[in-house]
Amino acid sequence: DWTAENLVNESIETIRKTVGDRRVLCALSGGVDSAVAAALVQRAIGSQLTCVFVDHGLLREGEADQVKKDFVDVTGVDLVVADERDRFLNALAGVTDPEEKRKIIGREFIRTFEATASSLAGERGIDFLVQGTLYPDVVESGGNGSANIKSHHNVGGLPDDLQFTLIEPLRTMFKDEVRAVGTQLGLPDSLVWRHPFPGPGLGIRIIGEVTAERLDILRQADSIARAELAAARLERDIWQFPVVLLADVRSVGVQGDGRTYGHPIVLRPVTSDDAMTADWAKLPYEVLERISTRITNECPEVNRVVVDITSKPPGTIEWE
Ligand code: XMP
Repeated sequence: DWTAENLVNESIETIRKTVGDRRVLCALSGGVDSAVAAALVQRAIGSQLTCVFVDHGLLREGEADQVKKDFVDVTGVDLVVADERDRFLNALAGVTDPEEKRKIIGREFIRTFEATASSLAGERGIDFLVQGTLYPDVVESGGNGSANIKSHHNVGGLPDDLQFTLIEPLRTMFKDEVRAVGTQLGLPDSLVWRHPFPGPGLGIRIIGEVTAERLDILRQADSIARAELAAARLERDIWQFPVVLLADVRSVGVQGDGRTYGHPIVLRPVTSDDAMTADWAKLPYEVLERISTRITNECPEVNRVVVDITSKPPGTIEWE
């Protein structure tokens, strides 16, 4: 019988048998998959699990706090936060090329994670790493979806001398099952129903150089768009809603008695089943209007809001 409860109980048993009394590490991203995987492992082995959250400063409003506070409160997980916001900003200074940004963010993430893992390992060492791999990822990479545990492999760009055995408790699950398990484990809807969010975060939603000021503008506009989508109860009808700041573009506007020369914000709501293809989401005009009015009123640097009506293909979901 498939129930979330059975799935949780079976996973817990397997994880306990595999891990014994050894130690496990998990990198939390703020996304659904790593959160549910971590919560499951925590339920199985408690304080033998340590979670690491690298705060790269490219998250949306409230997300770092949600990981730091809400997730810990609900799960009781042992969490180490690496506040590396300055490191990422410094590394990104002057960079405008999308692939260059991705490479830098990925590299700095691995470095931070590696340093944190080494300092945590101490004398006892850490044997296992939790990954939130789902069944579709397994199939895509030609793997076998039936096993819960994949043995010894170098993980996502980690250096050779940092070896872990992977624990992938979501390896047989689809997204809807992961959400059901998350709910079963008591995680809040705001986490369980979170939209996919790219690893490089807001860094690839600022077209142009990433700076602290630009991140603040985008974070504010993004939080308005998300709040209005939630208020209209449309969150579960769309796949993703990137909000993009065209930091290198200016246009003329008028506000009160004055001429403005500000930046455009792009709204990119899409529907999709798997992110491979996507349609632009036909959000109600009233919702778009409220978002536009609020962003131009509340973000002084923004004087224009546009909607991206391109499907994928030919457009990608993200702008970079
Ligand atoms: P695109 O823009 O290629 O995005 O249509 C497809 C899906 O992938 C996400 N995405 C990323 N996720 N690292 C990630 O972890 C990345 O560099 C990255 N780029 C795009 C995007 O948000 C969408 O869900």
